[in-house]
Amino acid sequence: MKARNLIDLDDFSMEELDEIVTLAGDIIKNPKNYAHACDGKILATVFYEPSTRTQMSFQTAMLRLGGSIIGIDNPAGSSITKGENLKDTIKIIGGYADIIVMRTALEGAAKAGSIYSKCPIINAGDGGHLHPTQTLTDVTTLSFELGRLDNITIGLCGDLKYGRTVHSLVKCMVKYKNNKFVFISTPELTIPDYIREILDEYGCEYSFVDNLNDAIPELDVLYMTRIQRERFETQEAYEKQKGIFVLDTEKLKNARSDLKILHPLPRVDEITDEVDYDPRAIYFKQAVYGMYARMALIMKMLENSEGYEPTRVYSNSELKCKNPKCVTVLEPYLPTLVIEKDGKHVCEYCDKTIG
Ligand code: NCD
Repeated sequence: MKARNLIDLDDFSMEELDEIVTLAGDIIKNPKNYAHACDGKILATVFYEPSTRTQMSFQTAMLRLGGSIIGIDNPAGSSITKGENLKDTIKIIGGYADIIVMRTALEGAAKAGSIYSKCPIINAGDGGHLHPTQTLTDVTTLSFELGRLDNITIGLCGDLKYGRTVHSLVKCMVKYKNNKFVFISTPELTIPDYIREILDEYGCEYSFVDNLNDAIPELDVLYMTRIQRERFETQEAYEKQKGIFVLDTEKLKNARSDLKILHPLPRVDEITDEVDYDPRAIYFKQAVYGMYARMALIMKMLENSEGYEPTRVYSNSELKCKNPKCVTVLEPYLPTLVIEKDGKHVCEYCDKTIG
């Protein structure tokens, strides 16, 4: 795999994705063979938003490969609080590390970072936008636990608007044959328009339902998510949405015996604790697969990363993105990158339509 970033899973071909999943499988079987795969390499975790699994699984992944780790997990402890911008921070860290894993609350921030980094960047979540390595985790879990990535009826439940794991997962699963999507949410928290457009582009079958009981019997996979409290404008708006979809043992009585229940975690109240004892619940296993998937990813990304150079990027439009959560709003020096899609102007950082 040649040197590059992972901002969106689309950055990798399906063959490359398959290679990573296969490698993850081999690491699970023969961990000792990989204990020195990244000797002498340094991974930096730059996390401006809370994280348990993503950050620690990346860190343990690198340590298990023989590499070392550095990082920021609290902006208050870094020069960001002195007013340093993202560009300078990433330029500096890119000079210290061999690979950067980055999480921020700003949509498009990992893409912005990749313009300036001297080493490859992995997007570990950019606001409510994307989370490609969670999808890598999900795909690895499904490959080994369900045995296929196609012909799946997958229900996604909860916060489909702000849930970045949902966006990345749908963008990936549309590429496999005959996958059907059932979106289970309130109308307020349904998928963003650009995700719906992608489903149409791939000609996928999908439906919207507002009742988990109705949806459950037909599902092969149920992907539960928490309501993303931190992304709401007001606490009141969040209160209205929380606690609506709760998976419990009663609802599972109507589900298939081979259903796979996934959740990127953390769980708040959307899955009751008793469900954890149901063999169909594989979300804790999923988190472990995440570490192996990330080991495989780091290895692949470091394979040819010597001589990595950021691509020089120039503004291609006078238009300014109006999404208040877009990185270009808070980091105004960034080149404006706009693409035309179906007669609309779309911001390349956050995927929102401009104007
Ligand atoms: C998810 C995230 O950060 O988007 N967590 C994770 O990485 N496993 C899901 C969430 O926070 O709800």
